[in-house]
Amino acid sequence: MTQVRDFEQEFLDKIEKEVKIEARDWMPDAYRKTLIRQISQHAHSEVVGMLPEANWITRAPSLRRKVALLAKVQDEAGHGLYLYSAVETLGAKREDTIDDMHEGRAKYSNIFNYPTLTWADIGTVGWLVDGAAIQNQVMLTRTSHGPYSRAMVRICKEESFHQRQGYEIVMTLAQGTPEQKEMAQDALNRWWWPSLMMFGPSDAESTHSQQSLAWKIKRQGNDELRQEFIDKTVPQAEYLGLTIPDPDLKWNEERGHYDFGKINWDEFLNVIKGNGPMNRSRLRARKAAKDNGAWVREAATAYAEKKAKRKAQSAA
Ligand code: 3HC
Repeated sequence: MTQVRDFEQEFLDKIEKEVKIEARDWMPDAYRKTLIRQISQHAHSEVVGMLPEANWITRAPSLRRKVALLAKVQDEAGHGLYLYSAVETLGAKREDTIDDMHEGRAKYSNIFNYPTLTWADIGTVGWLVDGAAIQNQVMLTRTSHGPYSRAMVRICKEESFHQRQGYEIVMTLAQGTPEQKEMAQDALNRWWWPSLMMFGPSDAESTHSQQSLAWKIKRQGNDELRQEFIDKTVPQAEYLGLTIPDPDLKWNEERGHYDFGKINWDEFLNVIKGNGPMNRSRLRARKAAKDNGAWVREAATAYAEKKAKRKAQSAA
């Protein structure tokens, strides 16, 4: 008698035994769909995330700062490329996922819909935003999907450098003149709460967490990661002599964690629905980049086609 393979059971066994799911492996449609959604949104975040920082490249206060910022922005473009490639291993078309973002069908991180008003914002984005991204993405190095987990390993190494360069900028300002310290405090005041929102809604409100945890796409819930980030970041702010803008923030000896105040989830929902201070400007910039780059894509395609034709002719 021929044995019928139970693909779903094989998939679940692999998840159970921590064997990565690779591009050619069978996977449930919903697992594939969740990954396409999450990874493409992650890729969009990396690419949109270049905009608020690129805004300061021409105004960086020294050549050293400019070089580091340029490198950081280029790294983010690279992260987008690894992630779009990981999405393609799942059978999705990169162009389609990008169109989904441009047409408002796909999200990108809430955080990039806030403006970078001063140089201190560039330091604070590195410190808090890249810090929060690392907190989430170190967990994702252990995700069950092979291509995503491998992309995460490299991305995390680069994000660590970004976090350090940001913290160093803020440290310089915090130890500078009273005006510079005030600028650092002002940036912290504006970026703290949106950074906490980056981890997503609380576990009770999260649409996808339960299933994603079962499939080991996510290895920790949104609330746990947010708490770990707060516990790590509060001492860093204390070291800088800066104040976290949360009157309810207090060490809880019993829990072994900081208690913190209520997050404004209405603001979060408003921003991810497209109504944050910079949503329209970010999408306008991304669409313009796509339109203005059309001739480059056409030229590259024509060149590749011509090269393939020549190769085929010389092989004939
Ligand atoms: N910004 C925008 N939307 C968010 C969000 C955020 N910070 N957090 C959650 N959401 C959205 C979800 O996408 C989902 O909407 P959808 O169904 O339309 O996709 C909805 O809110 C409910 O949230 P869930 O908790 O159910 O969603 P997830 O299970 O996907 O968890 C997540 C959210 C923790 C952000 C997860 O998707 C994740 O880990 N993503 C990968 C990491 C990532 O995207 N990071 C972007 C950070 S920026 C970055 O890396 C750039 C670097 O340079 C700093």
